[in-house]
Amino acid sequence: MPLQISEIGDSVLKMHYAVRGPIVARAQELERAGRDIIYCNIGNPQALGQKPVTYVRQVLALCEHPELTGICTDMPSDVREVADFIIRQSRYGLGAYSESKGMKFVRDAIAAFIEQRDSFDGVSVRSNPEHIYLTDGASKGVQAALRLLIAHEHDGIMIPIPQYPLYSATITLYGGKQIGYYLDESRGWSLDEQMLEDAIHQAKKEGIRARAIVVINPGNPTGGVLSLENIEMVIRFAKRHGLTILADEVYQDNIYKKDSRFISFAHAITAMGEKEVSLFSFHSTSKGFLGECGHRGGYMEVRNLPEDVVAQITKLQSVSLCSNLPGQVVTYLLVSPPRPGAPSYERYIAERTGILSELAKRATILADGLNKIPGISCQPIEGAMYAFPSLSLPAGKNDEEYCMALLEETGVCVVPGTGFGQKPGTAHFRTTILPPTDRIEAVVEAIGNFHVRWCGI
Ligand SMILES: Cc1ncc(COP(=O)(O)O)c(C=O)c1O
Repeated sequence: MPLQISEIGDSVLKMHYAVRGPIVARAQELERAGRDIIYCNIGNPQALGQKPVTYVRQVLALCEHPELTGICTDMPSDVREVADFIIRQSRYGLGAYSESKGMKFVRDAIAAFIEQRDSFDGVSVRSNPEHIYLTDGASKGVQAALRLLIAHEHDGIMIPIPQYPLYSATITLYGGKQIGYYLDESRGWSLDEQMLEDAIHQAKKEGIRARAIVVINPGNPTGGVLSLENIEMVIRFAKRHGLTILADEVYQDNIYKKDSRFISFAHAITAMGEKEVSLFSFHSTSKGFLGECGHRGGYMEVRNLPEDVVAQITKLQSVSLCSNLPGQVVTYLLVSPPRPGAPSYERYIAERTGILSELAKRATILADGLNKIPGISCQPIEGAMYAFPSLSLPAGKNDEEYCMALLEETGVCVVPGTGFGQKPGTAHFRTTILPPTDRIEAVVEAIGNFHVRWCGI
């Protein structure tokens, strides 16, 4: 008899992943039947027409097939040099396993990147390449950290509500408990100390032992960017309660609000001289302006961890041998872009600026457009790639029905707020800002017309 569903473990059966749930399945069905679908459900930039950054693909092509160097004579000289450097450093090319942590020269480049990014305002941040792990996208790093932290069925992980469902799904899979803390929608989705205290207090009453707090900054699905004060508050909170911090910083290059800047937890924890709070930070090649989701590149940096714990992480990572080598190369290119004066520099900067300024434009069009629709209210999209507007729905209706009807009527595919978590009694949906600028206007218009009709306004 083939494997039966009844034989599958509860943790797998109970796990949900809304971003690719039933609404997306229906969208694919409609598309197969010839409907034009605008996929606003997932932060997958190149699937929505974003062009790969030329420099990244040129270097990658030469690394994958070094013989091209002799054939593609029009490749810029820095591309050839960098590809040659990568091949030499990798020793065996991209077809061989690397060290479990990832190739050393890539980890060195990441450490230099972190030190440069985070050393400012009189703070000097040091990063140890031996505490950096290359991962297949940030997802695998997050999963490794959660695997390590969930040791017991009463172990709880604090996650923001709304959250990115990687967290809820993985906590369920690893048999831990989710401790949701609400983000304050009325204050740009910031974290509120009292809400954190309330959440941990409630968990304790239920016999759950909080082990860690996850912070997503800039936020998915909220689009919020945390201030230094907010980050410091989280670090003090973590210290008070003996929590490890998981800082999901995959959208660090996606900041659209003027005068707003990304501040990492590594910077803040160093500035505070804090040595007692363990920190896992995650970055990815999937977001920012590279949008290289399919190449599955990313890294995890750990701080304030005893060496015997670091050794356990290395052991855990070594079970899958290593992360994929092309992903490691893309991560290297993420953290060491062409330098000013290099032949590829101007084009690289033009492509980066083009992508980020289009995203900023779309963020404004989307938030402003949604706010003009009666019964929809959207916080400013300060960063990341999403809007999470709140909906006033007719009594008895919920956001899942709303999103399914929106898909059926307009072809716009968004994810219901329930998939990310939300305050009871509220309704939201999440949409990406990724469709091309002319299409995003059409998306806003379609949502507006649908909303007025469906809600009977
Ligand atoms: C907040 C957040 N973290 C992590 C990820 C995972 O990204 P990847 O595994 O592609 O690096 C995503 C993807 O959308 C995300 O939004």
